[in-house]
Formats: sequence, structure tokens, C-alpha cells
Amino acid sequence: MRDVSIIGIGQTKVAEHWERSLRHLAADAVMAAMRDAGVERADALYVGNMLSGELSGQENLGALIADFVGLRGIEAAKIEAACASGAAAVRMGYLAVASGLLDVVIAVGVEKMTDQGSEIVTAALATAADADYEVVNGVSFISLNALIMRRYMHEYGIPHEDFAGFPVNAHKNAATNPNAMFQSPISLETFKRAKMIASPINLMDSSPVADGAAAVVLAPSDLARRFQAAPVRIIGSANATDSLAVHDRHDPLFLSAAALSAQKAYRQAGLGPADVDFFELHDAFSITAALSLEAAGFAERGQATRLAKDGEISLSGRIPVCTLGGLKARGHPVGATGVYQIVEAAQQLRGQAGPNQVKNARIGMTQNIGGSGAAVITHILAAAE
Ligand code: COA
Repeated sequence: MRDVSIIGIGQTKVAEHWERSLRHLAADAVMAAMRDAGVERADALYVGNMLSGELSGQENLGALIADFVGLRGIEAAKIEAACASGAAAVRMGYLAVASGLLDVVIAVGVEKMTDQGSEIVTAALATAADADYEVVNGVSFISLNALIMRRYMHEYGIPHEDFAGFPVNAHKNAATNPNAMFQSPISLETFKRAKMIASPINLMDSSPVADGAAAVVLAPSDLARRFQAAPVRIIGSANATDSLAVHDRHDPLFLSAAALSAQKAYRQAGLGPADVDFFELHDAFSITAALSLEAAGFAERGQATRLAKDGEISLSGRIPVCTLGGLKARGHPVGATGVYQIVEAAQQLRGQAGPNQVKNARIGMTQNIGGSGAAVITHILAAAE
């Protein structure tokens, strides 16, 4: 197996991009990443996307985007793992380069959600849940997470207000990220007054519907410095799964796929949670942020909201999370999110995160969750030595 590095990164702002199509958004990110890497060709392009068929009537994204960016002829395919599609595409690229089969691989995540009304988007997102046993009974993705959050609050005696630290931190960090969808901080009062979406999840507990694309260029580490002065090494990459249906899980309050994927990535990197300088976690809902911190070993079960309350997740805290706004405030264009997380981790490790820079960041971790915890991909990245 070869060591793999990220030699180029690119992203669009997350927004309602009504004037840009899927292919334009993807091309903007891919071309930016190729420029950053200084490459004009690639051996393959993997596209992370969840909803193009449902929301844009467009599949076959691999060939579509390869052609549109001037790479007609190369290997290309769409990779789908619900909201974890982006990181799944990066992992495909990682496997291809690590195996020695391919040298330069682009992974792009792209999603276009805002052209459709909310009923259509809600139904499309629910395809990540179990169609035969969950969706048939009328659950939406938000309501499933609301059930999990309600149970968490009940089991651990946590009041709703204790989750506020997650969105407050995310919005604060997004305020200084020019690529974020929401660029204004929120207060505890804003959180408490936010409109209810699916009790107990309110607007401020929830990530938004959004459009965007992000891309990385991967190459073997021994070639990386030919392209990039500060290549970021991928030292851990792992994918793990759980049942789609929440009711099929041994314990609905423990994301076992997130734990398994984090453990595999830690083992590969030879590191543990104490070595991680920041964590780009999957805060699709504030309950997901809490469960992800617990599954990845940063908090005891039932204790994650304390990290948020005590400021431990802030840029200068013990484990900074969502350093450029996270899903909540940078935005969550679902199939693109996992690549945004990795691009942002690379910004941190290259010392290019501007006012959001985590001091002395050497090791960053990203975790991208598909479905209500069914498909989880964790990456651990290291700064250039
Ligand atoms: N956080 C903060 N503000 C939000 C927001 C969010 N998550 N979602 C929308 N807004 C803001 C909009 O910017 C808009 O502000 P404005 O009036 O100042 O322009 C306002 O709220 C209304 O926006 P709208 O798009 O009409 O909201 P909505 O009520 O239709 O949708 C949600 C809100 C939360 C239902 C929708 O964003 C949603 O479905 N989110 C979850 C998506 C999801 O499940 N993703 C997958 C998770 S894995």
C-alpha cells in the first residue's frame, strides 16, 4: 500500500445557487482543486452525490462531470452513501491511489438541493432511511433524528437548551468563513426562540438545505511535493456500516458504525482521540454532533453536551469542532459535505484557515455520516512535515 496525500483543494461557497447547475458547481470546485494542485490531467474522477437523480433528473454524473471539466475519456463514476457520499468518493480515490493502480485522482462532492420545494427535498432525503420499515410509516429524516434526540434527553436527563453550544459554536465559526452559507453568529436566546421543526429539533438544531461542491486531488505521497509545497497526508481512512433502520440497532443512542470507523482510522494512523487537534464532525442535527463526539471517543456517553457548554469545542478549546461552520452553518449540501469537511481540514493543516485557524494544528479528523448512522466514513489527516 502506498501513502496518499491531498495535493489540491477547491470549493464553492455553500448557498442557494439558483443560477448554477450541478455540472457548473462541480466544475468550479474541480477546476479550483486542479489549479491548486497544478495538474491538468487526472487518472480518475469520483463524484460523491446523493440526490441528483431525485432532484435534478440527472444520473451518470461521473461521465457528465469528467466531460464538462475537459477530462473526457478518463475513468469516472458516481459514489453514493447517502449524506456520506462525499467522503465515500474520497475514500474510493484513496483506495485507488494507495493500491498503486492510479496516480492522480480527483474526488468531488456536489449537491443541488434548492431548486425543488421542501416536500420533494424531504421525501428525497428520506431515501437514506429504510424504505420498507421506516419511511413507509411516514418518518422523515428530521423526525427520525428527533426521536433519537428525545430518547437521549430522556435517558441522560439533558434539557434541550444544553445542545445550544453546538449551533452557537458552528455559527460563530461560519461568520468568518467566506464559503459558509450563514455568516452571522447566533446567541443562546436565538436558539431558545427558534421555531420548532420536529420536536425537540428546532431550526437551530438543524442543518439547512443547500447547494455546493468541493473537490480534492489525491496523489502518492512520494510524488506529492512535485505538485504541492504543503501536501496533507491521509494517515487514516475507514468506512463502517450499521443497520439502516434505527429500530434494528442494539442501542439507538450509540452510533456503532461511527465508533467502528473511528477505531479503524485510529488504528491505521497509530493514534487516539488525545492526538487529534480538531474534529470536523457531522452536525446534521445537534444530536448527531453529540453522538459523533461520544462514538469517536471524545466524550463519555451522555456527556458530549458538556464539552459544548464548557467551550471545549471552540477554536481554542480541547477539541475544536466544525472549525469553519460545520454542516449547521457552513451548510449541508448532502453529497458534497464529506468533501467540504476534508477540504476544511486541509485548510487547517496547511495553516490557511485565516481567522478560524486552530493554533499548531498537526492532526485533523473528519467524520461523515450517511443515514441516521448507517454509513460512516472517518479520515485522519496530517500536516506536511
Ligand atoms: N438554520 C438556520 N436558518 C435556517 C435554516 C437552518 N437550518 N434553514 C433555513 N433557515 C433560514 C433561511 O435562511 C430563511 O431565512 P430568511 O427568512 O432570513 O431568508 C428562513 O430560515 C426560512 O427558510 P426556509 O428555507 O423557508 O426554511 P424551511 O422552514 O423551509 O426549512 C428546515 C427549514 C430546517 C426544515 C430545512 O432546512 C431542512 O429540511 N433541513 C434539514 C435537511 C436535512 O434533513 N438534511 C439531511 C440531514 S443528514
